Amino acid sequence: MDFAHLPHPAPVPGETRAEAIADPGFGSVFTDHMVVIDFHADRGWHDARVTPREALTLDPACAVLHYAQEIFEGLKAYRHPDGSLALFRPLVNAARLNRSADRLAMPNLPEDLFVEACRQLVIKDRDWFPTVEGGSLYLRPFMFASEAFLGVRPAREYKFLVIASPVGNYFKSGVPAVSIWVSQDYVRAAPGGTGAAKTGGNYAASLVPQAEAISKGHDQVVFLDAVERRWIEELGGMNLFFVFADGSVITPPLGGTILPGVTRDSLIQLLRDEGLTIREERYAIDQWRSDAESGRLIETMACGTAAVVTPVGKVASPDFEFSIGSGGPGQLTQRLRERLVGIQRGTVPDPHGWVMPL
Ligand code: COI
Repeated sequence: MDFAHLPHPAPVPGETRAEAIADPGFGSVFTDHMVVIDFHADRGWHDARVTPREALTLDPACAVLHYAQEIFEGLKAYRHPDGSLALFRPLVNAARLNRSADRLAMPNLPEDLFVEACRQLVIKDRDWFPTVEGGSLYLRPFMFASEAFLGVRPAREYKFLVIASPVGNYFKSGVPAVSIWVSQDYVRAAPGGTGAAKTGGNYAASLVPQAEAISKGHDQVVFLDAVERRWIEELGGMNLFFVFADGSVITPPLGGTILPGVTRDSLIQLLRDEGLTIREERYAIDQWRSDAESGRLIETMACGTAAVVTPVGKVASPDFEFSIGSGGPGQLTQRLRERLVGIQRGTVPDPHGWVMPL
């Protein structure tokens, strides 16, 4: 499909942009353009365009506003040392978007169209890469039901968009390791629900427990399983890995309640590359505590596209509190982070062909 390029009457002036990309933080600075593609049940996907980034006009009966038929992705574009631009594993995001679409009764988007949409936007807004150390261009592809209709059934009209945001660190810099609050009253996802789909509702449901974590002085909430309230699932928007003194690693298995993270999948491969034993296995909260206290568990890392690889230093609930290792970043966490970031940034070899040059 060809993309139309609409003229931009008033892009952000260069000086304002330079200021914005010097220290963008996470998620509050946006580039000049966006991609929009429309879907109609009778026409399929059509009218792909790169347009000025602007407000959307929605009918108040628009289905997404009522029944939350919405899915999204998150991936990053990087500027390599030679000045070239690259995406990291965009086809994995494209495939996950379609699995989310299946769960939310939405149409699939051809994977090559997903990648082309990202590519067009990154090239168009290539002047928006952050200048801050460790910065990247965070892409947020998303799809929502745009039909004006109040009956509860899958909509017949959708929009797919990609917006871009220059980003630095997800967590405020200077934090050596994050502190985690174990939610007692809330769960993220139940078997048979939408936990494996990247849909806004999962994140909406995490806001109250996340606010509770913050109010107790912690950075992130961790959710336990909905059935036994015992097995560790994931954070509000990140997967977890547990590292043991014997060199083995556990990450909770994908069973429909956990988001299949691209960073999660990449770390599993990097651990295998190192010859380490990585088990996708359930791990209980009481075990986490006793293993940390006995020294059997030496590191825990949280990972996601936004957060990259972040060490967990402390875990707390109303009943207990414990530290992990020295409470700071562990060796494996740091090594994996450097390796992953090096591949993404084109400074270390990419043996799995994860980097897609643009
Ligand atoms: C990501 O890591 O890309 C996420 O989607 C997590 C969060 C920012 C929603």
